[in-house]
Amino acid sequence: MRNIIYSALLACSCLPAFCLIGADPKSKTREEYMHMDTLALEAGTDKSSAFHNYTKVYSQYFAPIKSDPIKFLEIGIYKGDSVKMWEAYLPNAELHFIDITGALIEYQSTRSYYHFLDQSDAKALELFGHRVGGNYDVIIDDGGHTMTQQLTSFHWLFPLVKSGGLYIIEDLHTSYWKTYGGKGNLNHPQAGAGTAVEFLKNLVEHVNYVGAATACADSDKVPPALMQRLNYYQSQIESIHFYSSVCIIRKK
Ligand SMILES: C[S@@+](CC[C@H](N)C(=O)[O-])C[C@H]1O[C@@H](n2cnc3c(N)ncnc32)[C@H](O)[C@@H]1O
Repeated sequence: MRNIIYSALLACSCLPAFCLIGADPKSKTREEYMHMDTLALEAGTDKSSAFHNYTKVYSQYFAPIKSDPIKFLEIGIYKGDSVKMWEAYLPNAELHFIDITGALIEYQSTRSYYHFLDQSDAKALELFGHRVGGNYDVIIDDGGHTMTQQLTSFHWLFPLVKSGGLYIIEDLHTSYWKTYGGKGNLNHPQAGAGTAVEFLKNLVEHVNYVGAATACADSDKVPPALMQRLNYYQSQIESIHFYSSVCIIRKK
């Protein structure tokens, strides 16, 4: 029956057959995921489907920009597995990586830039911004995952993201682990209070601020008087996307 409908559609349409046959968005999404995940598995990073499976989320965001000359930064080199993956996945990108130590690195890249500093050191992050510049399309925090590290890095590095760019924080489950500065009891109503997850949840209020103040959701129509009163996050955050253990913040 479906074939008959397709044939009928083709017969009365001037669209070529591949427009209908190749238009399944689900298979395209899966293809993009498989592509990124294969590279992640080959490189050995825990972003792959063998562990966290962040590639399932990331492929949706990165596929449209994977061939562009983007500027990219990741905190956390470890052995260099994700460096290998990003180099293969983003052939035209300028790639930067931060770690507190180079002692564990097995992959010495000739293409990527390695920077050694403490992601919880505000002064070092500020200096990094001055030295390496901003305008990042993507920043990923896959560093030490403590509350101080995640929050300090976001504070200093989110301003370095370009308009329309992404800031990503991985392994947010540490917000529920006391050893990382998180809150231990996941079932408690206050679980996560004072943590990176709690901070990110509160950013949602900033995303909604303009709509609440004007009754108009279109933040491009903010009256000039209100524009002046917006705080940094109210004026700079376009959207916040939560997934299991990872959050993606898009800048306006
Ligand atoms: C999870 S590993 C990174 C894994 C890598 N991104 C990958 O997918 O293959 C975390 C890294 O963060 C680094 N790290 C820990 N504390 C840090 C800090 N305060 N500042 C910068 N890097 C830190 C560790 O040295 C370690 O190499």
